[in-house]
Amino acid sequence: MMSSLFVRASIAIALCITLSFGLDGEMVYQKKCASCHQLYRPIGELEKNFMHDNNELLHLKAPTINQIVYRLKSRIGDPNGDSEMQQMEIESFLQDYFTTPDKQKSICMPQVLAFFETMPAISLSEEEFEAIVALLMAYDPKRYETSKMEYQGYQKALENARQNHKPVMVFFSATHCGYCKKMEDEVLNNSEVIEAIAHDFIPVTVDLDKEKNPSKENIKMTPTFLFLTPEQKTLYTVPGSWNKEDFLEILKEAQKRWNTSQIKGAKQ
Ligand code: HEC
Repeated sequence: MMSSLFVRASIAIALCITLSFGLDGEMVYQKKCASCHQLYRPIGELEKNFMHDNNELLHLKAPTINQIVYRLKSRIGDPNGDSEMQQMEIESFLQDYFTTPDKQKSICMPQVLAFFETMPAISLSEEEFEAIVALLMAYDPKRYETSKMEYQGYQKALENARQNHKPVMVFFSATHCGYCKKMEDEVLNNSEVIEAIAHDFIPVTVDLDKEKNPSKENIKMTPTFLFLTPEQKTLYTVPGSWNKEDFLEILKEAQKRWNTSQIKGAKQ
């Protein structure tokens, strides 16, 4: 018995060295864990779901991987000690939990576990196990924390612009405009761009295939970015699709023109 365990452990270590990049952790996760565990949910949502909404907000079947990783790394071994040592301890916890799950051994919060049955035993090949461990150890919630641009309706945006003393940025797009889609995916979803816009502008989006142009400016093509004062005076009209660096420059220029317009306005 002892010797067979020893042999298995040696094989596991050998496999770990030779095959640690053999399988993609996300693929194993999809196949073996995703039917119950979601990969990521923001902490605020989780708190609301478990503490206030009796799991009726998210209807989760199991704790999310970001919850689990956080608990594994803070509860097992010494979080401030040697990280390889901690990884070994986490591996042996997981190995044990997958073969003989038991809530008594659990590291998750009791308030969360109360919503779930005990996990069924999970059978993984050595290779799959290593891939899952690698996925969990390298898991970085930041990868999933995508912030989003918060567009407002045109009239509401003008009102907000007046109150907050900021210019409005109108993004004119169209349903079948490939360059608009490309800009949305590659530039307008970028966290640096989102932050710059949230800081200095009130963003509006108008799909010209679905709605009438609410501004006084004649828009000839999509995408077009129109920067307006709260009184609907045009500060800057920028047609075309741009990369992130150029678009950040455009935002700076729009901000400069806004500041100039305010200085001029104050002098009048
Ligand atoms: C059939 C559903 C199901 C599948 C499939 C499943 N789990 Fe779970 N898992 C659960 C539930 C429910 C819990 C919470 C109850 C518990 O801890 O036993 C849980 C808890 C856990 C825990 C925390 C144990 C603790 O301390 O509470 C870990 C770690 C875990 N799962 C990892 C995995 C991984 C990795 C996979 C895929 C290889 C996986 N699970 C597949 C349902 C599942």
